[in-house]
Amino acid sequence: MKILVTGGCGYKGHILIPKLLARGYEVVAFDIQWFGNFLTPHPQLKVVKGDVRDIESVPLEGVDCIIHLSSIANDPCGDLDPKLTWEVSALATMQLADKAKRRGIKRFIYASSGSVYGIKDEPQVTEDLELKPISEYNKTKMVAERVLLGYQNDMVVQIIRPATVCGYSPRMRLDVSVNMLTMQALTKGRITVFGGNQTRPNIHIDDITDIYLHLIDHPEVTGIYNAGFENISILDIAKLVTKHVPAEIVVSASNDPRSYRVNSDKLLATGFKPKKTVEDAVLEIVDKYRTGVLKDEECHSNLKWMQKTVLAK
Ligand SMILES: NC(=O)c1ccc[n+]([C@@H]2O[C@H](COP(=O)([O-])OP(=O)(O)OC[C@H]3O[C@@H](n4cnc5c(N)ncnc54)[C@H](O)[C@@H]3O)[C@@H](O)[C@H]2O)c1
Repeated sequence: MKILVTGGCGYKGHILIPKLLARGYEVVAFDIQWFGNFLTPHPQLKVVKGDVRDIESVPLEGVDCIIHLSSIANDPCGDLDPKLTWEVSALATMQLADKAKRRGIKRFIYASSGSVYGIKDEPQVTEDLELKPISEYNKTKMVAERVLLGYQNDMVVQIIRPATVCGYSPRMRLDVSVNMLTMQALTKGRITVFGGNQTRPNIHIDDITDIYLHLIDHPEVTGIYNAGFENISILDIAKLVTKHVPAEIVVSASNDPRSYRVNSDKLLATGFKPKKTVEDAVLEIVDKYRTGVLKDEECHSNLKWMQKTVLAK
């Protein structure tokens, strides 16, 4: 099978692609490389630097399956330049799906986001609830989902709404909660928690990438699935970190009221079993930092890096 991974040089892509290669698939990583490329060369891997907005440049020749990860990948980045956000995350997704259909590509896996729900009062957030996206990022994800569902008669459309991902990747993100709090403890001996009581769902990077493999194996699993297995308050994440890294926890006021518990029973019912925990993610990050593999650098924050590089041009 030949798989195109858009955004393949991102945080998730760097964990997913070696797993695809280990299975013997031929992989094309298509990415604008805003955050670089640290993928290990492999005879079955082709890395193409390009912009998904330039749809004619996306290498679809011989592709059997698309895993679509490219996006402006969080709320503050999405707000930096809403036109760019809509073009990359929504319009390009529509054009990619259209091209895929015309080429007879039969598999399309899409990384949406659990943030499409917005603020929910329901104790359990299930896939059938009304979507009330707040940020530009959330809105583009919702629209892209709806566009893709329109192609269900043409191809197998599998949409995942992941929780916040945690854990180490060679293209690291330190702007996601567990990773950020762990790095604060390691570098400052102090964790600043905004609000603290908001409950948020989390998923380990090994589990989210295993879900994409699970979807490849199960074309009958179509439609939309939540993916988040540990609903924990930010304060409890901070406390978990201090179990392994001594640090003071400072709680300050939050301007982000979102608090929700995602329910992933629908995905679990398809036979997927998560293997890792938030605590595993903390321990892995601590190990990578202490062994000098991981450093606290600006390029690990999508917002800081986009402001400094992409949007400064
Ligand atoms: N990490 C999370 O916590 C999380 C949670 C839910 C959903 N997601 C979604 O999963 C996907 C992957 O997230 P990630 O954490 O790996 O983010 P990431 O920012 O590390 O990766 C996104 C990649 O897309 C690339 N990209 C951006 N614009 C592009 C364009 N115009 N053309 C080609 N490539 C482009 C970037 O260079 C980057 O490598 C995203 O769609 C994101 O919205 C992530």
